[in-house]
Amino acid sequence: MRMAFADDIEDLREQVSEWRSDGESIALVATMGNLHEGHLSLVAEAKKQAFRVVVSIFVNPLQFGADEDLAAYPRTLLADLEQLEEARVDLVFMPTDEMIYPRGAESSTQVQVPEVLTEQLCGLHRPGHFVGVATVVSKLFNLVQPQVALFGQKDYQQLLVIRRLCDDLNYPVEVVSVPTQRESDGLAMSSRNGYLSSDERARAPLLYQQLTRLAMTLLKCEVDRETALQQTVDALNEAGLRVE
Ligand code: PAF
Repeated sequence: MRMAFADDIEDLREQVSEWRSDGESIALVATMGNLHEGHLSLVAEAKKQAFRVVVSIFVNPLQFGADEDLAAYPRTLLADLEQLEEARVDLVFMPTDEMIYPRGAESSTQVQVPEVLTEQLCGLHRPGHFVGVATVVSKLFNLVQPQVALFGQKDYQQLLVIRRLCDDLNYPVEVVSVPTQRESDGLAMSSRNGYLSSDERARAPLLYQQLTRLAMTLLKCEVDRETALQQTVDALNEAGLRVE
């Protein structure tokens, strides 16, 4: 079967309800496009988990802060669709902002996962980010009604937020996590790696090297936790990476 496209909510609902009434299971891979091997590993796992695979491509304005990269976020729709066709995805859902947020993103009902999960680590530096993620993922779950949804371990805090969302709001969705895909030098694959200058790109693998070294140090109990953390922060700062 050829890959189908839904660029409005009615088409999507029609297709997924047909599959559901035929008893076919559905997996969702939610993306913001600019697909790479990381996304394709989610799709590959989705194909193992369900009979039908839906991929959404939507650059969600609600999860970007006012000074973040919403306008610059890489949009590569044609290349994305070619990769999804090759991966034998069943349906690609490509809504517009107006379809997802007909009253405007800021005026729509929003989903807030408890602050203990959202106001630290990445959330500390990106106020409102996880409200945006939780809101759009809730909407996608309601629209696609998947039995399974796949998320990458790269965005680990996001994964915990989505698991909690499912639990608290009683979504009958199994959240499956998929290991981070890395470049050969250890850098986690990410659409935003494209922003790195060649000098930054050369230094970026140090992050994974240092985190791996830190994990080994802690496992071997070589030094106490605070000292080990400080050594890691110092090594990264000395190499010109700004540790938040
Ligand atoms: O991880 C992402 O690409 C996004 O945060 C997601 C889950 C698609 C929600 O917009």
